[in-house]
Amino acid sequence: MSKIIILVGSMRKGGNTELLASAFADGAGQNNDVEIISVADYSVNYCIGCNSCFKSKGNKCFQNDDMTHIYDKLMSADILVIASPVYFYGVSAELKAIIDRLHTPMRNKFKITKLALILVGAATLPELFDSIKMQYQLVLDFFHLEDAGMVLVSGAKDKGDVSDKSLAEAYNLGFSIK
Ligand SMILES: Cc1cc2nc3c(=O)[nH]c(=O)nc-3n(C[C@H](O)[C@H](O)[C@H](O)COP(=O)(O)O)c2cc1C
Repeated sequence: MSKIIILVGSMRKGGNTELLASAFADGAGQNNDVEIISVADYSVNYCIGCNSCFKSKGNKCFQNDDMTHIYDKLMSADILVIASPVYFYGVSAELKAIIDRLHTPMRNKFKITKLALILVGAATLPELFDSIKMQYQLVLDFFHLEDAGMVLVSGAKDKGDVSDKSLAEAYNLGFSIK
C-alpha cells in the first residue's frame, strides 16, 4: 500500500483533468491510500526565487500560504501524479506555481520514488504532449525517480469530452500502481 497524491492542475471544477484524475484515483484506491489535491482548492503564490528557504529554520518559505498544507501532504507521499490540462504546450500556471515552490531543501525529506503523468488537451496534433513529456523525463532523470506511467488524452476541449476509453485507461493505470 502506497500513499499516492494526485496534483490536479485545472481550475475548471468537474473538468477533463479532474475526471481523469478521479478515474485514476478509483483504480489506485483499490490498493493504495489516494488523495487528490486540486489547484482550485488552494491558493499558492509564485516562488520569487529569494532562496531564503535554503537558510530558514526548517527550510520554511517566508510565504505563509496554502503551500504549507501541500508540503505537509507531500511529506507523506510515496507516489506523485501530475495531472494537467495542456496550456500552450505546458502545464497550467497554477500547477507550475506549486512545482516551482518545490525548489526548496524541504524536498530532500520527501520519500517520493515514482511519478505518473496525466495530460489532456483539445487539439489532436501528434506533438501535443512532446514538450511536457520531455520536461517530465528530465525531472525523472534529475531526481532518480521511476516513471509509473502516463495517460495522454487529446481531442478533449469541453467539460466531459474525455471518452470512456480514456477514463478506463486512467482507471487501469491507477489500478496497476503499487
Ligand atoms: C489557457 C488555455 C490554453 C490552452 N492551450 C491548449 C493547447 O496549447 N493545446 C491544446 O490542445 N489545448 C489547449 N487548451 C485546451 C485545454 O487543454 C482543454 O480544454 C482541456 O480539456 C481542459 O482541461 P480541464 O477541463 O481539466 O480544464 C487550452 C485551454 C486554455 C484555457
